[in-house]
Amino acid sequence: MRPELKPRNPNFSSGPCSKRPGYSLDQLHIETLGRSHRSALGKEVLAKACAQTAALLGLPEGYRVGIVPASDTGAVEMALWSMLGPRPVEVLYWESFGQGWMSDITKQLKLKDVSCRSADYGQLPDLSAINFNSDIVFTWNGTTSGVKLPNGDWIADDRKGLTICDATSAVFAMDMPWEKLDVVTFSWQKVLGGEGAHGMLILSPRAVERLETYVPTWPLPKIFRMTSGGKLNEGIFRGETINTPSMLCVADYLDALAWLESIGGLAAAIQRSENNLQVISEFVAKNNWVHFLAEDEVLRSNTSVCLTLDATPEQVKKMAKLLEAESVAFDIGAYRDAPAGLRIWCGATVEASDVAALMPWLVWAYKEVVGV
Ligand SMILES: Cc1ncc(COP(=O)(O)O)c(C=O)c1O
Repeated sequence: MRPELKPRNPNFSSGPCSKRPGYSLDQLHIETLGRSHRSALGKEVLAKACAQTAALLGLPEGYRVGIVPASDTGAVEMALWSMLGPRPVEVLYWESFGQGWMSDITKQLKLKDVSCRSADYGQLPDLSAINFNSDIVFTWNGTTSGVKLPNGDWIADDRKGLTICDATSAVFAMDMPWEKLDVVTFSWQKVLGGEGAHGMLILSPRAVERLETYVPTWPLPKIFRMTSGGKLNEGIFRGETINTPSMLCVADYLDALAWLESIGGLAAAIQRSENNLQVISEFVAKNNWVHFLAEDEVLRSNTSVCLTLDATPEQVKKMAKLLEAESVAFDIGAYRDAPAGLRIWCGATVEASDVAALMPWLVWAYKEVVGV
């Protein structure tokens, strides 16, 4: 049976993710547009974006938040290129983005003392007995496999190395153990439904110490440079960006933060995301032809929810196309490197009622394409 009700908002993409409920361009505060980002107003607004991020996330004293170029990728690369080298590196990866960081570290930076622990799509690598004298690089949530770290208990408090965490599809949707993390990156375009272009770089005091005591042997492009004369360029973490940011994207980010605050802050955002996952969990429990890619429930992402189907890859693609043609769900095909399936974004900006409205359409599309 063809369902009657459609999701009010069919945007279930895993990035850029759906705008917040009630989003409208004319609500943005755009008095900064056409002005210098180094004007008093520009700096004030950029500083506000950093400070509000720290406050809403509840970052520990001494942690810094900066806006950097090139979205999450820019923030991660900046950290890898500026900080790696003095210690062995261990990379933990379980899907394509984490694997990409491994490749950058070995093939671009050409570091020699690098080990890795990896796992197939749907699994997490063994996290026991990691040597925390090394710098550890990992993603918090594997956006393309729907597998997240359940907690940070495996990270040593007395570590000598740094923990460098790409948390772009986790920040504002999952509890992050900040004291265990020295570098955390994310992009506005994910959980908050903001824009690409800029990345957020969060540094612990130990990460700052690394920056102030270690100079890489390789050249660093200007847009990666966070120190000058052996001291941290603190301005970056007060809104004095290295180069010109998009003030329109900044206005959009501040709108997202204001929305987050209005719904009750971080805890409420996490709850919204968990509720969305719950809708899908109930659906999967009732339909034996659809499965979570992450078999272990505690590892299941509550943002990038990845499902496999009893269908061929071509059939799954056809289903995604059909759902798009019906304006029921946009961009829910699995990531190109991941096993065939559907990936439904369940971050805070997505409404549970829309996820619920989508579920009968999955049944319909499956019946249309697979015919059972
Ligand atoms: C885990 C992870 N890292 C990095 C990226 C790249 O993010 P961006 O395009 O914002 O640089 C993504 C994008 O989906 C991601 O999921």
